[in-house]
Amino acid sequence: MITDQIEFQKLDKREPIPYSLLLLADPSRKIVDSYINSSDIYTAKIGQQTVGVIVLLTLTDSTIEIKNVAVKFEFQQQGIGSLLIKNAIRIAGSDHQKTLCIGTANSSTRQLYLYQKLGFEISEIRMNYFKKNYTEPIYEQGIQAKHLLVLTMQIPANHSN
Ligand code: ACO
Repeated sequence: MITDQIEFQKLDKREPIPYSLLLLADPSRKIVDSYINSSDIYTAKIGQQTVGVIVLLTLTDSTIEIKNVAVKFEFQQQGIGSLLIKNAIRIAGSDHQKTLCIGTANSSTRQLYLYQKLGFEISEIRMNYFKKNYTEPIYEQGIQAKHLLVLTMQIPANHSN
């Protein structure tokens, strides 16, 4: 399995930010830049090649948000995205954070499937978030991204390793 070859590591602040991956998850460089320097970036590598990324931002003493998760197109659908999110759950648990959240568009049906399968539940809908915050309209499989769905997971206290 390809996931057996993955090395998951925190990106050193001096290393270049993997924008090409981050922009797969969020087409707005301006929005990515609004959180990237206050976040922790973790990468999934196969050898020297970075094939995936996940970005965690501490919101409060008890809440971490997954701001961005992306896998290189040719490596998608092989379990790497799930692995990245499971690692984020582990990190949030070991940091004694109680809540992990992630936001995605109403049009991101595949992502909504994945996040719910991994245990997140829809907790909030920010109406017209994409219409208000993005200059260009975004469509996925013919559906316009209008609203932001926030999904939340309560991490059990013993989920630390
Ligand atoms: N169509 C249908 N189902 C799919 C597809 C697809 N194209 N791709 C993956 N899946 C399903 C898989 O079948 C799997 O389900 P299963 O275990 O029941 O078979 C499940 O989704 C998980 O698949 P993974 O292989 O673990 O996920 P992947 O490595 O593809 O990563 C990710 C998922 C990160 C969403 C990836 O597809 C990606 O980078 N997409 C572009 C960027 C993006 O949209 N990021 C999320 C934006 S929201 C945010 O960043 C907060």
